[in-house]
Order: sequence, then C-alpha cells, then structure tokens
Amino acid sequence: MDKQRVSKTRVLRFIAAGLLTLSALVSVLLSHASFIASERVQRVQVPLHAAEILRKCAALELKPGPPQDFHTRAQSDRFQPGTKPLLIRNATLWTGHLDGLEVVQGNLYLDKGLIGDVGEVAVDMLDEEVTIIDANGAWVTPGIIDVHSHLAVEALPALEGAIDGNSLKGITQPWLRSIDALNTHDEGFKHSMAGGVTTSLILPGSANAIGGQAFVMKLRPTRERSPTSMLLEPPYSLNGSDVDAPSPLRWRYMKHACGENPSRVYSGTRMDTAWAFRSAYDHARHIKVAQDDYCAKATAGDWNAVAEQTFPEDLQWEALVDVLRGRVKVNTHCYEVVDFDDFVRLSNEFKFEVAAFHHAHEAYLVPDLLKSAYGRTPAIAMFFAFSRYKREAYRHSEFAPRILADNGIPVIMKSDHPAIQSRFLVNEAGYAHYYGLPENIALASVTSTPARTIGLDHRIGFLKKGYDADVVIWDSHPLSLSAAPAQVIIDGIPQLNPSYPAIKPASSQQAPHTPNWDEEAKTTLEHEGLPPLEPAQSTEGVVVFTNVTSAWVRDTGDSEIVNLLAATGVIGTVVVRAGRVVCHGSMYDCVSYTSSAEATHVDLQGGALQPGLITSGSAIGLQEIAMEVSTTDGETYDPLSVDVPAIAGGLGYMPRAVDGLQFGTRDALLAYRHGVTVAVSAPIHSSFLGGLSTAFSLGAPHKLQKGAVVQEVTAVHVKLAPEGVPSVSTQVATLRHLLLNPTDGDAAKYFRLVTNGTLPLIVEANSADIIATVIQLKEEVEVETGTPLTVTISGGGESHILAKELGEASVGVILKPPRPYPMQWDHIRYLPGPPASADSAIAVLLKHNVTVALGPQGVTNEDSMYTWAVRNLRFDAAWAHLEAPDVVDKASAIAIASSNVVRLLGLQIAFGDEDLVATIGGDLLSFEGKVAAVISPRRGSVDIF
Ligand SMILES: *[C@@H]1O[C@H](CO)[C@@H](O)[C@H](O)[C@H]1NC(C)=O
Ligand SMILES: *[C@@H]1O[C@H](CO)[C@@H](O)[C@H](O)[C@H]1NC(C)=O
Ligand SMILES: *[C@@H]1O[C@H](CO)[C@@H](O)[C@H](O)[C@H]1NC(C)=O
Ligand SMILES: *[C@@H]1O[C@H](CO)[C@@H](O)[C@H](O)[C@H]1NC(C)=O
Ligand SMILES: *[C@@H]1O[C@H](CO)[C@@H](O)[C@H](O)[C@H]1NC(C)=O
Repeated sequence: MDKQRVSKTRVLRFIAAGLLTLSALVSVLLSHASFIASERVQRVQVPLHAAEILRKCAALELKPGPPQDFHTRAQSDRFQPGTKPLLIRNATLWTGHLDGLEVVQGNLYLDKGLIGDVGEVAVDMLDEEVTIIDANGAWVTPGIIDVHSHLAVEALPALEGAIDGNSLKGITQPWLRSIDALNTHDEGFKHSMAGGVTTSLILPGSANAIGGQAFVMKLRPTRERSPTSMLLEPPYSLNGSDVDAPSPLRWRYMKHACGENPSRVYSGTRMDTAWAFRSAYDHARHIKVAQDDYCAKATAGDWNAVAEQTFPEDLQWEALVDVLRGRVKVNTHCYEVVDFDDFVRLSNEFKFEVAAFHHAHEAYLVPDLLKSAYGRTPAIAMFFAFSRYKREAYRHSEFAPRILADNGIPVIMKSDHPAIQSRFLVNEAGYAHYYGLPENIALASVTSTPARTIGLDHRIGFLKKGYDADVVIWDSHPLSLSAAPAQVIIDGIPQLNPSYPAIKPASSQQAPHTPNWDEEAKTTLEHEGLPPLEPAQSTEGVVVFTNVTSAWVRDTGDSEIVNLLAATGVIGTVVVRAGRVVCHGSMYDCVSYTSSAEATHVDLQGGALQPGLITSGSAIGLQEIAMEVSTTDGETYDPLSVDVPAIAGGLGYMPRAVDGLQFGTRDALLAYRHGVTVAVSAPIHSSFLGGLSTAFSLGAPHKLQKGAVVQEVTAVHVKLAPEGVPSVSTQVATLRHLLLNPTDGDAAKYFRLVTNGTLPLIVEANSADIIATVIQLKEEVEVETGTPLTVTISGGGESHILAKELGEASVGVILKPPRPYPMQWDHIRYLPGPPASADSAIAVLLKHNVTVALGPQGVTNEDSMYTWAVRNLRFDAAWAHLEAPDVVDKASAIAIASSNVVRLLGLQIAFGDEDLVATIGGDLLSFEGKVAAVISPRRGSVDIF
C-alpha cells in the first residue's frame, strides 16, 4: 500500500510540475498498471483517453497563487507596447510595507508596465525617452483597489437595456459570470479612475444567495476594447483551458449573499436561503467526492473500477466545486449577526474559506464569531456611513472600522459602486480615519488589504519593485478632506489626460489631526450599536466657551458671515445665556459671566463657533428606515396617475410634511451631532407632486417643544423627470395649469401663494432642457401676473450649463448631490469637478451669481435614500471650498450650507435667531473639529454633547 501511495504522489507531482510529456506519462502509467496487474494477477483495461483523465485528476490538486518565478518578470503581461518609461520625481511614497507605516521620500521609476526602483533612482542615468513628472513632494500611493464594484454590469447612466447585475432565474447560480455582462461604455470608468481606482472586483448583485462568479478588472481602456482584455489574471477556466493550464492556477471569485436581499427576491425567509446554500453546497460536495473517488482509482491504475464511468463533472457546478477545493475567493454580502452566524456555520460544515464579508454592518459586534469561520479570518468590506436604508443596516456604526481593526480583523473600505461612487472610495477611508481608524490601516484599507484579500498582493496594492505600475499621485494627503488624484497611472500609462487637480493648502499634505472618539466607540458597543444620541445636557443657563479661535455669525441685514472675534487676537471667549450670545471678546471682557458659579464651562481647545448648518433635499425627519414603511411617513399620492380620493382633497390635494414629522430619528440626531441643526423636508414622493415642505429642528425631541418647528410651510415642491407616462411635457402642462389656473382646495390656495410671490416653488429637475423650460415658464407666469416668483431648482445635475441664465433669472439651485454624477440620462451632461474637469458645478454656478445650496451626497435619485448622508453636510461644504478656494471661500462654504437655504426656501428666521455650533479642536469644515454643543436662540437653550 505504501509503495502505491508513493507512486501516486510522484505521478501527481510530475504532472503538476508540467514536466511530463504525454509519452512519458503513458509509460509511467503502463508500468504502474503492470505493477498492479502483477500483484492482483488480473487484466486491466486502460482506456484510450487515460492520459487526459489523469491530467484532469492531477489538475484537481493544483492550488492558486503566483508562479514561483513571477517576481523575476521583466515586463508585465499587461504592458502596452509603446508605453514610455516614467519617472515620478520627489514624491512622498506610501509603500504599503511595514504594516502600512513605511513612507519613503524620493523618486519612483515605472517601466514595462512595472514598478522599477522605489526611492533612490539616479535621474542622470535615465535615457531621454523617460517622461518625468515632478510630484513636488506630493503623496504617491499604490492604485486604489475596490473589492465591491458593479461597474460595467450596472452601467451608468442607468438604462433599462443595461441592467445586468443579477439574474433572477434562481436562488443559487454559481455558473453565472459577471464577465458576460461587462459594458465597457459605462460612464463610471473614467469617473472611478478620476478617484484613483485602478483595479476593481466586479461582483454580481446580491439578489441571489449565489449570484455568480466575479472578475477582477483594471479600469484603463485597452487597445483591444474588449471586456476580456481588461481582466487581471483571469482564471484559465474562463475559456476552458484550465486542464492544460500552467501550474499554479489563478484565483477565482464568487459572490454570495445572505439576509434580506435573496429572501425578498425569492419570497422566502432566512431559513429558506440558508437551506438554498446547504443544498447547493451539498450538491457540489457530491461531485467533489465522486471526482476524488474516481481519480483515486484512476491514478492508482485501477481502471477496471471506473470502467463504466466517465469523469464526474458538471459545467453548472464546477465553480462551486472549486470553492470546496479552496480555489475561489468567496465574497459574501452579509449584514447581521444572525447571518454571520449562519454563514460561519456553513463555511465550517462544508469547509471553505470566506475571503470577505461585505457591507457587514453588524460585524463589529461579533469579532470572535468572524474569527471562527473556516480557515483564515474573513476581511470585512464596508461603508463608512451609508446605512439605515434597510433594517439590516440599522445598527451600523461609523466606529466599526476602528473597532474591527482593534480586534485584528482586516478592514476594507468598499464602494458597492454605483451605490457609493467608487470615485470617492479613498474618501471613505478618510472618513473612517476621522472616526478613529489609524492612518496606516486606513491607507491599507483601500490598497494593500484588498490586494491581499483577493489574492493579488503579489502584483498590486504595494509600491515595490516588480509590482504593476498602478500608482496615484494625490493633490493632498490621501486621507485629508476631499483628497483626489492629481494623476492616476495604470500599467505605467497616465489616465487623466488632461488632469485638473485642485490646488490645496500646504497643510493638507499632512494627515489630519483627528478627534478622539474612544468614549463614543465604547458606548456604541455597550449599547449593541444603538448608543443614545441625544445631548448629554441641555441648559438655558450661562455657558462659557473658552479657548475659541473664531466665532462666525451672520452679519446684520445680509447673509455675510463675519468673525466676532476678528478683533480679539488669537484666542477668545464667548458667553451664551438662554441660547443667545451675551458676551464675546477676551477672557477679561466677559469676566462678569466667567466668574459666575452657575456657569457651565466648555474649553473648545482652539475650536470655533459657526452657524448651524441647514439641510434640504432629503426625507430626513420623515423616516427611520427607508425600506420599512412602518417606520416612515410613506409616499404621497401621484395625482397624475391616480384619482386622489375626494376625502383627501381630490384635485385640491396638497400634503404637508409638517403633519408627518418624526422627531429623534437616528439620522436626524446624527446630523445634529455633526452640526446640522435645521432641516427642510418635503413629503416623500417619487413623482410629480411633492406637496409642502417644512423646516424643523433636528435636535428637538418632539413637535410641541418650543422652537421644534421652525416654519410649518416653507415651499411647494414639484418634480419634473422623464418617467414615460406621464411625459415630461404633460408634467410641465400640469405645472403651468396649476400656476395659471388653480381651481381647487389647498392646491389652488398654495399655488396662488406661489404666483403672488409669497411661497417659493421648488422644482426638482436635472436636465438642462427641463431647467430651461422652467426658466421660461417662470417668465411666462410673471408676464401674466406682473409679480416675480421665487423658483429654485433642486437636483440641478446639468444646471451648470445654464448658470448664466439661472443667474439672470434669479433662480437658485439646491445642488443634489453636490458633486454630480450621471445616475440617470437626464444629467448625462454633468460636470464632474476636479481633477476630471477644471471647475466644479458649484463654482460655475457661484461665478454666475446663482444662489447655491447643497443637498446630501446620496446614492440614488430618491430623497428617501439620502437621509443617512445629511450628517456629511459639513464635509460637503468644506469640499466645495477646497475644490475651488478662489470662488468658494470658507464663509461662502458656510453660506451654501446655511443662509443660502434660508434664502432659497424663504425661511423666516429672524436675524440673531440662527443656531450656532461649537466645535472642539478645529472648525466644522475640517477633519480636526468635533461638535461639542449647539446654541439655539429659538429654543432658548444650549445642547452639550
Ligand atoms: C520636493 O518638493 C518640496 C515641496 O515642493 C520642495 O520643498 C523640495 O525642495 C523638493 N525636493 C527636491 C529634491 O526637489
Ligand atoms: C485562454 O485564455 C488564456 C488567458 O487566460 C490565453 O492565454 C489562451 O490563449 C486562451 N486560449 C484560447 C483557446 O483562447
Ligand atoms: C487652548 O487649546 C489648546 C489646544 O488644546 C491648548 O494647547 C491650550 O493650552 C489652550 N489654551 C488655553 C488658554 O486654555
Ligand atoms: C398673496 O396672497 C395671500 C393670500 O391671498 C395674501 O395673504 C398675501 O398678502 C398675498 N401677497 C402678496 C405679496 O400679494
Ligand atoms: C455677480 O454679482 C457681482 C456683484 O453684484 C457683480 O459685480 C458681477 O458682475 C456679477 N456677475 C455676473 C456674472 O453676473
């Protein structure tokens, strides 16, 4: 028996090493067969295709990984002939080595699609073919790697003919492949590259428990123009050549999903999905066992035992069998503790590794459970803040990345593009860093950690000699607010041609000095992910803010923002009583208050006071969990599609958001804790009639508290969007009719207030053509009535095209999202902003005197999918400033996130009644400041966190 085993192993090793010619194989085989024959004295019928069978059997033993001589390669397999060598001079090189702590000052040489020397490159030795880029000391990192992208399978703009992210033909379909649906014309490619993304794992969607196989692709266009030519190390099985493949194999990838998505799509429950997994894996296991059994006999030369059989295989299931053979990186969409528990059990039952859990909103609650998965501990690939859109994401925490890192679990930030645009993936790492993820781990979370997780760390994710020449030169420290590339290089080829990087201040070349969140992270765990978000203290008494660097308030009369402490010198004191500033100046100026025994003292440690921010354009205050109707106000009727019941007003129907307000929602309190104090929300609607918006305090506990409702009715909202039936022209006809011939009930009453100039009309529209129509309609009505209307565009994806006309017509824009991108065709003419275009949309509008406000940087065109993002208003405003400092100074950045909303929505907030926000350690528009208190004159109190 021993001899037999040795012999079998030797055969396998020979074949695996690819050293055996066919004739040698046959002779080994025959001597082997004759050995058995002589022992058992029986005739063995060797089949004609025995060699092929043995090759197949040998191939079963192969493992994936780079060939041993990979690191001696002189040229990349992706090298594009004609590409010139490139030298990046004087760079701050983050290499990814030493646990992400190694930073080398020097040069980086790229040639033949590979990285040459890192650091010391003798510049005078180079021949003149070399293109030299002077980085001027800028940060250079490996290209960003996105392990969760639907780029090209859910191509943008979203058109019905190209929704190819999922098949709905079965709950477990390991045979499907994302490569079969890659649309190379996706607008997202250039966009993602403009954010530094060089490589993406293209996953099928999460509608199925097993959605299919995923593929890694580099984003640069290729000369061949084919999807296949963009793949990075595609598995040999892609075209059926795996049996003859060189050893070792290449990694394969597969998408799995647990929880709500597959359960909803297949009208089942978690139990059904779990069984679907087990049943599929059981089927694959049977095939694997049959193969192993067959091959054990065949390689032992016992051909008689397999005489009546063919090699057991099934094209539909071979990929899942490969999972069981440890050759597939399994990527599982999984949110909740219960789902991790199920999947970890599955991995142990069938003995396969999970490369990464994706989304994984509750992963930080169960680090030990994750570690008990079969084999290596899975990485966790997550969002920084996108959450609460569904129940499974309710316990999301912005502290999850650092908590997981504290537990030694690999942390990856991912986009789920286009859910979050992968263009902003690096900024997800920046936000995670702001909330406590250490710098080295944050940088690795979008470079070397994903490279390792997808088994490609032998060529990407690091700056190292012999690695792929995929690098990004940044306009600031990659974790700084609004960080963006100055140039992106893939396979040694610069991709941004031309590039328009923003000019950032020198200070942004340092990693931000972020606040301490230890206490918040601890409380989050103590409360199983639902820490109380209400202020720790609320007082009507005297609060003394010391160590204040600046105090920005709205100046008398107009909306200029001025610094109260401008004359004080470096550091000042601000005293507040009953929510109003009663003294400001030096410590001595306010000594009568500061010495009072009852006063509460808050040391802002060099922080600031600034106006409370005001958000508009989301459904905040009208829902807790967007996809759980019982937690929301629900949607309005669409009078263009249904007959509104007479009892609800019939033709005069006009819903008011104030009647559906919910106070104390988590999104509202989180926004409040980040300096957004007032929100304007319209009733949730997906079609023409929005109804009446309302303005309210995000920090108020209920509607009846003093100052909770800032203004019951702020504006009339309508939406003009291409949606088939009714046509855009029908929607415009309806609007014209309502403005010029209002007839019934509340609708008539409020449209009359619009036409007599009392109430603003907010028109949601993205297309420049529709916006132009609105400008004309405004004129038409004004000519008819002789009264100027207040009209504001919300959305405005193409509004920059009409900046001049909007300015002349005094039509303002709530830009939503603030950094537009073409989710839909109606804003295909978007302006992406630096580095993809010289100007940002905000800057173009402001240059033409258009009053601009910012909606949240959300994920779809539905208001209800934006509420989680309201908390980021401070960062979006700062971003607008950092992208175009000449046009948007810090004061106008504050204005576009506060006083401009007041103007555009006709809010009646009296001068001096605006909220103020106090921040510790820095101001609201930075990664240094942390909100310490909200000062509210209307509510007559100060909330201290
Ligand atoms: C590198 O760039 C920095 C920043 O511009 C500059 O101060 C320094 O002199 C440069 N060093 C070299 C060697 O060019
Ligand atoms: C199959 O693809 C590999 C690359 O993965 C390529 O080298 C090989 O030539 C292809 N074979 C055929 C038959 O197309
Ligand atoms: C102000 O805050 C800074 C930063 O925390 C600190 O270094 C300084 O000592 C404080 N100054 C006063 C007067 O408290
Ligand atoms: C607009 O109409 C309302 C209601 O009829 C009225 O109270 C208001 O004074 C009018 N405003 C103007 C500016 O005409
Ligand atoms: C914008 O307004 C300023 C000040 O009122 C004016 O000087 C400038 O000409 C205006 N610009 C445009 C493009 O209308």
